[in-house]
Amino acid sequence: MMKPEMKGIHVVATGHYAPGNVVTNDDLSKIVETNDEWIRQRTGIERRHFTEGEKNSDIAYKAAKMALEKSGIDVNDLAALVVATFSPDYFVPSVACILQRELELPTDMPCFDLNAACSGFLYAIQVARGLLLQSRKRYALVIGSEVISKVLDMDDRGTCILFGDGAGAAVIELDETKKYFSYLGAEGNEEYIYCPNADEEKRKVHMDGAKVFKFAVSTVPKCINGVLEESGLSKDDIDYFVCHQANKRIIESVAQRLDIPMEKFYINLQEYGNTSAASIPIALSEMEEKGLIKKGMKLICVGFGAGLTWGGALIEW
Ligand code: UT7
Repeated sequence: MMKPEMKGIHVVATGHYAPGNVVTNDDLSKIVETNDEWIRQRTGIERRHFTEGEKNSDIAYKAAKMALEKSGIDVNDLAALVVATFSPDYFVPSVACILQRELELPTDMPCFDLNAACSGFLYAIQVARGLLLQSRKRYALVIGSEVISKVLDMDDRGTCILFGDGAGAAVIELDETKKYFSYLGAEGNEEYIYCPNADEEKRKVHMDGAKVFKFAVSTVPKCINGVLEESGLSKDDIDYFVCHQANKRIIESVAQRLDIPMEKFYINLQEYGNTSAASIPIALSEMEEKGLIKKGMKLICVGFGAGLTWGGALIEW
């Protein structure tokens, strides 16, 4: 019998959704003292999407629906739904439970949210894989979805220009022919990034940008090297590196440190800003839509963020 750790995952289909309200850097310069040139140069971000009246579960629904329709699977074959988010509609019920009803999923499966901030999607994939190993059912639905605009301090130019709302989803199944390795970690820290559990007025993201930047440029290479070591692959075996989309300068620094050409790093933060747990699945869905990822290609995805948390995963398409 195949050892559980040998079973990789196959991404059957992906989906994504970004709300229609596009907020440009110029729009933000009317609210807070900033300008398009500074934001582009220091982050690479050009615009982001903010929800208008849509809840987290509404945008997660749209990404999930796209992935489910593309996959063509019968939802009765789903073993689990895991939603990675730090910005749910409510403390309870979870976004996942709301989606169980809205997507008309069977009730005999676990549906829950998981909070690992910007590393959330990679945590969720690993958890879903674990649940699939225990299940007679074939597929899992994994979503990263965030409505960060609701917890942004629009007076803080150091944070409000960075983030956006969006959702990405993937239907996965176990596949022993695919390579998969996961490298996850966490270290308690409320200093670098936190969002207090307070009245709505005070429930805002706080961040020490320079400290997070330093953490990111050392953590992303650690995750990439961790995955390469575990899998016995070299960086040249990898077709694409899909990093959490926080700041273009972070990705450029990683590329330089690891001597990997920038063309191998997918970047879409100019369009969405930092969508936390949604950034990696949105990128994967876009890449699939553009025909960039083909069967058999090897990707390393890397997330990092509040917690602190981090994660890397080798995914063979
Ligand atoms: O998913 C969570 C992950 N989060 C991140 O990855 C964030 C990581 N950090 C960053 O991306 C960067 O640290 C920032 C983009 C947040 C800030 O960039 P920076 O190059 O580190 O700028 P800084 O904080 O060192 O500020 C440089 C200057 C300051 O002015 P002075 O003191 O030199 O006069 C800031 O006040 O830029 C000023 N500044 C701005 N100016 C115009 C800071 N934010 C802005 C702004 N527009 N939005």
